[in-house]
Amino acid sequence: MPRPSHLPVTATLMGAALTLTACGGVGDAARPDGDNGVIGIAMPTQSSERWINDGANMVAEFEDRGFGTDLQYAEDVVEDQVSQIENMITRGVDALVIASIDGEALGDVLDMAADGDIPVIAYDRLIMGSENVDYYATFDNFEVGVLQGRYIVDTLDLENEDGPFNIELFGGSPDDNNAYFFNDGAMSVLEPHIDDGVLEVRSGQTSMEQIATPRWDGAVAQSRMDNLLSANYSDEEVHAVLSPFDGISLGAIESLRAVGYGTDARPLPVVTGQDADLSSVRSIIAGEQTQTVFKDTRALAAQTVDMTEALLNDAEVPVNDTESYDNGAKVVPSYLLEPVSVDLDNYQEILVESGYYEESELE
Ligand code: GAL
Repeated sequence: MPRPSHLPVTATLMGAALTLTACGGVGDAARPDGDNGVIGIAMPTQSSERWINDGANMVAEFEDRGFGTDLQYAEDVVEDQVSQIENMITRGVDALVIASIDGEALGDVLDMAADGDIPVIAYDRLIMGSENVDYYATFDNFEVGVLQGRYIVDTLDLENEDGPFNIELFGGSPDDNNAYFFNDGAMSVLEPHIDDGVLEVRSGQTSMEQIATPRWDGAVAQSRMDNLLSANYSDEEVHAVLSPFDGISLGAIESLRAVGYGTDARPLPVVTGQDADLSSVRSIIAGEQTQTVFKDTRALAAQTVDMTEALLNDAEVPVNDTESYDNGAKVVPSYLLEPVSVDLDNYQEILVESGYYEESELE
């Protein structure tokens, strides 16, 4: 569909909306309209560039198809996300696309959306405990964890080596349903090697309560890693760190470097990650972080727009999984995209040749 002729105005207003949001307020004139309606897009934070890309890609894709957008970031403050969504509902958006901060915290505001007949698509993170989630667009989150776990198994050659190798485990935010899928996927691969003693978690911290990283905060991971190192590794080396997210990976690496890892004599352990955030890809190229899992935000945005458009047109909404994602109130029909493991060997092909990053950004 051709871009609507008022796009430059829309683009200007989008800028205004973003500026107003950044100041914590939302002006009445800020909402751009589209010929086909307006989509409220609630994103969690701009602290990790993936969410900036997710938002920008969706705005571009929705506008290409004649929709206006109201994109808001809540900087990981749950109450702000709730009030942003309330404002979108009050203004009468035609659909909501939400990547939640706390998956359990949106029940009341989604009741309000349902009262206004506004459909809701959960974006990347499942919204929990509410009937009023129509669809879920995401990646195969269990597979993300499998890719991380398998990378550690392959790199340390655990099928053939006797070890023991030392590993420490990090989990994601306990209020994000994805964190459990990532961990379950990774542990499905790592647990047999822990059970047979080839992999050892010297800290003994293996449960999600022990390893979770609230709000995926790299600084929290860094200080937990500081504690793990001083309590358990005064005369032992860490060989692997299971990290579910690039921000956590970089926090752990900071901590390891501070005690002398990162030299030829004392190499950094295998450190996994997720999102192919720019700083982590640079870290991989520099030989520090070892791996990340790439989830193409362009593909997720396009998929979400397809689903939203179908939903608003009463057409069949494309889904490929109607079993895996039970949010406690219902099984939410989902579309799962495939994640891809990236390291030094394939980042060129996967990230540069696909146009996701320019080579010059990675220097
Ligand atoms: C998860 C998401 C990951 C990562 C993480 C931290 O929900 O699936 O890709 O971005 O949040 O932002």
